[in-house]
Amino acid sequence: MNTDSIRKYRPFPAVSLPDRQWPDRIITQAPIWCSVDLRDGNQALPVPMTVEEKLEMFDLLVGIGFKQIEVGFPSAADTEFNFLRRLVEENRIPEDVTVQVLVQTRKHLIERTFEAIQGMRRVIVHIYNSTSPLQRRVTFSDATQEEIKQIAVDGAQLVKDLAPTLPETDIILEYSPESFSDTEMDYALEICEAVKAVWQPTAERKMILNLPATVEWTTPNVHADQIEWFCRNISGRETVSISLHTHNDRGTGVAATELGLLAGADRVEGTLFGNGERTGNLDIVTVALNMNSHGIPTGLDFTNLPHIREVYERTTRMTVPERQPYAGELVFTAFSGSHQDAIKKGLDRRQREMKAEGADLAWGVPYLTIDPQDTGRSYEAIIRINSQSGKGGVAYVLDREHGFDLPKTMHPQVGKQIYDLADQMGRELEADEVRAAFFKYFANVSEPLHLLDYELDHHDTGERGTVRCRGEVLLNGVKKSIVGLGNGPINAFVHALEQEGMKDFALTDYRSHALRDGSGADAAAYVQLKSSDGRLVWGAGVDPSIEMAGLKALVSAWNLLR
Ligand code: KIV
Ligand code: ZN
Repeated sequence: MNTDSIRKYRPFPAVSLPDRQWPDRIITQAPIWCSVDLRDGNQALPVPMTVEEKLEMFDLLVGIGFKQIEVGFPSAADTEFNFLRRLVEENRIPEDVTVQVLVQTRKHLIERTFEAIQGMRRVIVHIYNSTSPLQRRVTFSDATQEEIKQIAVDGAQLVKDLAPTLPETDIILEYSPESFSDTEMDYALEICEAVKAVWQPTAERKMILNLPATVEWTTPNVHADQIEWFCRNISGRETVSISLHTHNDRGTGVAATELGLLAGADRVEGTLFGNGERTGNLDIVTVALNMNSHGIPTGLDFTNLPHIREVYERTTRMTVPERQPYAGELVFTAFSGSHQDAIKKGLDRRQREMKAEGADLAWGVPYLTIDPQDTGRSYEAIIRINSQSGKGGVAYVLDREHGFDLPKTMHPQVGKQIYDLADQMGRELEADEVRAAFFKYFANVSEPLHLLDYELDHHDTGERGTVRCRGEVLLNGVKKSIVGLGNGPINAFVHALEQEGMKDFALTDYRSHALRDGSGADAAAYVQLKSSDGRLVWGAGVDPSIEMAGLKALVSAWNLLR
């Protein structure tokens, strides 16, 4: 921003609270959650949800475990009105769920809202009017504080007067001084006290005072000061539930909410993935999973986050960014080599330690604040391969996804080859491409030497051991029969190569194992050869027969030495 532009901005005033308590507290329990997906969230959509989509979203929210759900602004539009009526008439609201409706503190809108809530067992009627100096001056044409307070009081009084017309409905009042975040603190308190005086809540029948950061103007610590100041100054604190409703204009809606909870709030309004006006509302998924990651139960179930994301994206037509905390496609993925190695070590170690210590073992895997499995993600997605990945990453993918347990000393050679490939292609490689590259460069390599067939005789062959190996090979396209003796198939084959003048190496390592998740009884083998000029090369073989896999690994390594 240039110096001329910057002059039009001002610092945001701090709250004077020298003995603030919130910085020394920690969060120990979850608040009451209220989803506003179907109101604030829906209101902010370029294409609002249809009634059918809202019904699907409502069921999703109930399934997640929300006990309070704001379902809309029934006096504002027919779709909203009809949606609420369908919920009521089709008996879709579970006994333990309380639906909330929003309405401005205006007579005809409150009256229409009362038509919409007929027949409900219990409902939160949420009234609001805007209170900040900016709103009073601009939107309400220089209305005075008294005039704005009167609007709130009249609204509360009208709800109180209409309540007896629905004797079968338990009505809970919620009041929001909209734009609380930039309202003078003492005035916000005065107006809330005035509404409270009308409603007369008790500790048994609390009312909700929702203190919205309608616009996030400043840092989360100031929000926390505002909330703590309010909690300390409101009369009859035990008769009100203090609710947070943050937006995310500065990108700190989650932090503001967390500090607001430290400051004493009881309740949180927000949306899935932070959908909402402008930069959105509070992302409840993030705040709840942050709590889970500290061992705090929340009553919300995000164990199938991919499904929740799918329904959300389909019904709202919004997308969850790839780096969205917990829910984004890439948030459990490491591309960097050192991170991949550390994650692999962490997961392997955890698996070992859990055998001894059981499922209560404290989570501790580098770079992962939670276990991806707890949100319905799998380990397979964690490590992906591009040119910045490390040797451990390729080995991890080959192991987890394809069942190859590569010898440690083979990792650098395979890793380098496959990262070079990713670099040339200029993109990430899929797990199947990693497997294809492994076969292309390391496994069953058959040029210039190709093993067509072999036969083993097991009997005493004198000082060279107990096995005779007869092999049919192609060398540079020419068929040959070779024979060798040894104390096992590999040795006998090495001897056969020696007989043909083809042994210009020493065999330095050999491993084999059955292929986990392989097709049928496939086996994998790995052979390391050292050339006469000191080069060490690994080759691999895969075959239904473990003997043939070993011979193919040897042939691969022999070819790779050329
Ligand atoms: O952001 C806000 O202030 C609101 C109120 C209506 C609660 O959505
Ligand atoms: Zn809002």
